[in-house]
Amino acid sequence: MAKTMNLPEEDETIAEIIAILHDIGRFEQWKKNRSYVDTERIQHAYLGAQMLQKGWIRYFIPETREYDEIIIKAVKLHRELHLPHELTERERFFCNLIRDADRIDIFYQCTRNKDFDILFEIKEEVEERSLSNAVKLALLKNESITFKEVRNRLDLIGLRISLLSQFTFKSGIDYIKEKGYVEKMINLFENNLPQFKGEDLEWLKKYASKAFQSKN
Ligand SMILES: [Fe+2]
Repeated sequence: MAKTMNLPEEDETIAEIIAILHDIGRFEQWKKNRSYVDTERIQHAYLGAQMLQKGWIRYFIPETREYDEIIIKAVKLHRELHLPHELTERERFFCNLIRDADRIDIFYQCTRNKDFDILFEIKEEVEERSLSNAVKLALLKNESITFKEVRNRLDLIGLRISLLSQFTFKSGIDYIKEKGYVEKMINLFENNLPQFKGEDLEWLKKYASKAFQSKN
């Protein structure tokens, strides 16, 4: 994404470093919890920011401390539902960039059969095979959906599709469109879980194609 934006070389490098480091907290999370599921207490983005703050950033960037704050903030905030108001314009830019890139990555992961069962795993799934009201309502209002609202695996597709309306940069959404990630994700879902085919899944397909159009 950074490469499509004609950024100064310095900014491109910052974006690259943030991208490489943004999930560094996963190591600590696994050590503490033997799980990659974020909890109230153990959240990988915060853990990553802490690790960098405690000294890892010096290991990766020995030459200067000039960019520490911006890098650490972007790592810390990459999974927040909403960014805090007090960011500078520059901080906000890099936060939004990694957040969009991460959204692309989520779509990419959802197109691969290899991890399908993990990505579409729900502990206690309800019997209903329709989209939950809360999920549908959030989609209609272009609001973000959290895992708390997810009751079945169709809701999970809804949650992922809701990410389309959260992109900041057009280049992010264009990339997803160009790669056909949404179609691939839905095809894979239909093949693996045909019991969810029906009105609501068709509605989600239409919703996704409209979301692409509205970003043009
Ligand atoms: Fe992450």
